[in-house]
Amino acid sequence: MLEAFWYIVCRSKQLGRQPLRRRLFDRRLVLFRDRDGRAACLEDRCLHRNMPLSAGQVVEGTLQCPYHGWRYDGAGRVCAIPAMPACAHSAHAIQAKHYPVKEQDGYIWVSLAEQPAQPEPPRFPHLNERGWASFRMSRVADGGVEAWLENFLDCPHTSYVHKGLFRNPSTRVMRVRVRELTDGAEAEFLEADEERRTSLIWKLLVPKKVPVQHIDRFIAPAMSRVEYHADNHDYFISSLCTPISASRTAINTVITFRHGLLTPFVRIVLPPLAQLILQQDVAVLRRQHENIEHFGGERFRVIPQDLLLPHIRRWRRALAEGRTPTPRTEQNRAERERDIVI
Ligand code: FES
Ligand SMILES: [Fe+2]
Repeated sequence: MLEAFWYIVCRSKQLGRQPLRRRLFDRRLVLFRDRDGRAACLEDRCLHRNMPLSAGQVVEGTLQCPYHGWRYDGAGRVCAIPAMPACAHSAHAIQAKHYPVKEQDGYIWVSLAEQPAQPEPPRFPHLNERGWASFRMSRVADGGVEAWLENFLDCPHTSYVHKGLFRNPSTRVMRVRVRELTDGAEAEFLEADEERRTSLIWKLLVPKKVPVQHIDRFIAPAMSRVEYHADNHDYFISSLCTPISASRTAINTVITFRHGLLTPFVRIVLPPLAQLILQQDVAVLRRQHENIEHFGGERFRVIPQDLLLPHIRRWRRALAEGRTPTPRTEQNRAERERDIVI
């Protein structure tokens, strides 16, 4: 049932006059814009001889197969068969598999279920709101969705993989509270002055010693959100992980922020640094993925400081089986605190 949720298949601006080939849960899809400019998504396979429709072209808002020129509308209905001129009416009876599509927040979203599990795709906080700036990053990378969600929501790796840039190793013990939510789980760091001020990003963005609130949040089934708040700034780093296949993920990250008078400066300096951080994660996950391929997968040792991984797994397993995970015992449901060094 994870297929029933909305996933980003491309940026809105990527879908122009040409059809676009995409893969989602290993299924081959083709996207195009119909006569009204609405995005449409079909199985990438002509009903006639199995030709990939993505190799064709868009003609008058219909998708034309490159082999014998059959044309499909946005709902997958065959609307022209050139070799059979009298078929104009009957052609509509043949329909290729098509999928629900939404265009929202500058992305094209597809669900593989006739009845998507959510009425709308998830939103990115404060995107396009007055007073807020934003930028986006898109990557396709090795590693499955869970590996990526875990990475985005895992703090201890940041002192090693992103050493000097984002955090530096520390021995400072911090208190963190993990909460189960109705749509996922979150980890809130309770000390507002984590010892990180020596890294480049913190020096640039938080030069003064102000308390910074930090929350990591998993929004089922495929979104991570990291939040930092201080007196004059707020940052939301949201990443939607789209499963291309079990071992390949398309990552779409939106960073929305406001930083007072520094906002224009941050808008210039932060994107290349964020790209560098993402590149470092891509390299790490590629190695992790290669090793998992070699040794075989599921032998992960999980410690209490892997704060959100158990929640990510529990939610995704439940949703895959078509149910919502039941909150664990009352005691466990309550806010749970533990110590961590990041
Ligand atoms: S294979 Fe598509 S029209 Fe023949
Ligand atoms: Fe990272």
